[in-house]
Amino acid sequence: MNISIFGLGYVGCVGAACLAKLGHHVIGNDISENKVRLINEGKPTIIEADIDELVKEGRESGRLEASMDIQYVVDKSDISFICVGTPSGKQGHLNLDYIYNVARQIGKAIRHKESFHIVAIRSTVLPGTNKRVGEIIAEASGKQRGRDFTVVSNPEFLREGTSVEDYINPPLTLIGTDSEDAEKTFRELYKDIHGEFIATDIEVAEIMKYVNNTYHALKIVFANEVGNICKSLGIDSHKVMEIFCKDRQLNISPYYFKPGFAYGGSCLPKDCKALRTLAHDHYVKTPVINAIDPSNELQKKIAMDIIESKGRKSIGILGLSFKAGTDDLRNSPIVDVAEVLYGKGYDVRIYDRNVRVSQLTGTNADFIQAKLPRLYQIITDDLDEICQACDVLVVTNKEKEFADLPEKYPHKCIVDLVRQFKALDYEGNYEGISWANINNNAAQDQPIERNMLTTEY
Ligand SMILES: NC(=O)c1ccc[n+]([C@@H]2O[C@H](COP(=O)([O-])OP(=O)(O)OC[C@H]3O[C@@H](n4cnc5c(N)ncnc54)[C@H](O)[C@@H]3O)[C@@H](O)[C@H]2O)c1
Repeated sequence: MNISIFGLGYVGCVGAACLAKLGHHVIGNDISENKVRLINEGKPTIIEADIDELVKEGRESGRLEASMDIQYVVDKSDISFICVGTPSGKQGHLNLDYIYNVARQIGKAIRHKESFHIVAIRSTVLPGTNKRVGEIIAEASGKQRGRDFTVVSNPEFLREGTSVEDYINPPLTLIGTDSEDAEKTFRELYKDIHGEFIATDIEVAEIMKYVNNTYHALKIVFANEVGNICKSLGIDSHKVMEIFCKDRQLNISPYYFKPGFAYGGSCLPKDCKALRTLAHDHYVKTPVINAIDPSNELQKKIAMDIIESKGRKSIGILGLSFKAGTDDLRNSPIVDVAEVLYGKGYDVRIYDRNVRVSQLTGTNADFIQAKLPRLYQIITDDLDEICQACDVLVVTNKEKEFADLPEKYPHKCIVDLVRQFKALDYEGNYEGISWANINNNAAQDQPIERNMLTTEY
């Protein structure tokens, strides 16, 4: 394929050399004359393992060149990669000026081009950039996105120092696109690159790199805080983390990685608190570990706010225990939400087929006695009755019996704390706690009519 690369720094130089190695014809462009000259002399613009040989080979094979002439670069290619820098501005915002400048230049250059052009954003950019780049190109070219050109998001995952190796062996290849043709082209382009090829929504691809890097940073500071606690206790933290990493079911695994409601139960809250207190007693500062509990509390507050925002008085809570399939109510986060709603005077009703108030014993009974002493008055074992009676249905666990709520009870407000539904075509109003709207029904967009008196301060 014929490819142009805008920006010949770390990402652009490695991409250009590797794509040439894979058999494509690549033309690089940079505002730096020096970088363009270096590529044309068969020399890399950066210092990296294996890159000298690759650029030299690419140049000798005739598959790699560079030019300052943007029209030439665009005319000679079907895909243009944007690999320019995205530095932080003074206030920490991302400066996307370089990206938009290149988009404008590419737009002008494709004005007279007959063939379809794909622009791929390789730089790290925030969600929404792809759309804006498309608008700039459309404006500058007078052409139409989807018909004459498209913009895909193809974030780069390489790490400096091992960038050539990472390019050929990435953890995965990610394309965010709204064009089937572009997806096909990219599958073909990357067919010799190892790892899974994933085509997804544009915004999903755009945010991915930030999610990855923030998680990597979180891993590092978590391991460091654990290390600091271990050191204060005379424990070898490397032995601890080695064993930690061997648990591939719960620790290094997809488990717990589903956005949703707060955690609860008798172990996580208690054990996090114990480790935090242990660190404190040994004068070890653990700001990340200390932040876990406030973040969890915030998630309960978010659930409360969503429920209250529906402006209805009767609230049906479907599931009270801390997870499906148990009657354990200790530290169940929805009990806290129910307690506040009940205290505020909402007409709260609760359904949980596993909970029998009369059979609660020990700490379970004590917990409920402290939080919801009148539970026996508001709990029912009739799911239909509660769904009929309440305007807002709050789904708190993934029991199968809640799966057909939208069909059975149209026109209710459903608040989903566990992603019970994948996608919906629901007549009523649906809101998930931590994901964008998945209800495609137009009824969703109608403003909610509030039938509760509110006090304005
Ligand atoms: N370096 C990494 O390890 C890495 C890894 C993944 C993603 N990224 C992301 O990729 C992007 C590029 O990073 P980098 O490290 O390669 O940056 P870099 O600064 O090394 O290279 C950017 C290049 O773009 C050029 N440039 C600027 N404006 C231009 C224009 N209008 N036309 C043509 N060229 C132009 C600059 O002269 C420079 O050579 C950033 O968004 C970065 O966050 C970097």
